[in-house]
Amino acid sequence: MARRRHEVLAATSRGSPDSIATIRYVTVDLATGEGLDSAVGGVEAIVHSATDPRRPDLVDVGGLRLLDQMAPSDAHLVVPSIVGCDLIPTPYYKAKTICEHAVMATARTWAILRATQFHQLIWGWYSRPSRNPFLFVPAATRYQVLDPMEMARRLADAVDGRLQGRLDDLGGAFAYEATELARSVVTASGSGRRVIGYNRPGLVGAALRAGANLTPNRGEGETWNEFVARQIARRES
Ligand SMILES: NC(=O)c1ccc[n+]([C@@H]2O[C@H](COP(=O)([O-])OP(=O)(O)OC[C@H]3O[C@@H](n4cnc5c(N)ncnc54)[C@H](OP(=O)(O)O)[C@@H]3O)[C@@H](O)[C@H]2O)c1
Repeated sequence: MARRRHEVLAATSRGSPDSIATIRYVTVDLATGEGLDSAVGGVEAIVHSATDPRRPDLVDVGGLRLLDQMAPSDAHLVVPSIVGCDLIPTPYYKAKTICEHAVMATARTWAILRATQFHQLIWGWYSRPSRNPFLFVPAATRYQVLDPMEMARRLADAVDGRLQGRLDDLGGAFAYEATELARSVVTASGSGRRVIGYNRPGLVGAALRAGANLTPNRGEGETWNEFVARQIARRES
């Protein structure tokens, strides 16, 4: 957004990093609303991308409600969400679905953009240090890994164009088997773990095997292989 010459105010609960000089940082806790009132005064658009998968009821859902209450009534609201969140019954996805309903009920103009899993998320799952030599990964399950910069571009487009409603879902260029993704992370990270596919039980496993997390829409940006190559280069440097 800053490159598009918007004045960007980034809310963070941890204080400001000093890496991006063109962005003004403000400390806000969306779980409590602390700092929010002064932060949202006069804003023209809000992208509510804050999330805390350990307490999404407070940060994702509660934070959204606070933003909606406190932001100027003509501020456009743009909210990222997740492909299939209404079909895959995890507690986090249920919270994302509640967020979507809250967005649709707001009196202000709004846009929701659902996306598939970001590269960093999958890398984080499968590179987590463990003493277990085996890495169990759901079989017959695909993830359509996405460059988060592509998501950022689409969110910026939604702000720029004041796009409204449920936007077209955004997915990565390819959907890979989870076992294939895990093996590439194990190789790149040098963890040496053995990837074992297992049949994830329950409704979540069934929804994932049915492809509820996938979309026919394919975005651009860095591919998974380019992303992994970057992680290897970083490790070797
Ligand atoms: N990751 C994915 O694969 C994926 C896929 C599709 C959609 N999405 C959606 O995209 C959005 C962003 O996801 P992400 O994975 O990019 O998130 P992320 O990297 O984990 O970033 C979430 C941000 O939320 C902020 N935050 C957490 N608790 C907060 C609090 N109490 N008050 C204020 N800010 C708080 C954190 O900033 P500080 O720590 O600086 O406070 C953090 O930078 C979410 O809505 C997510 O559901 C993600």
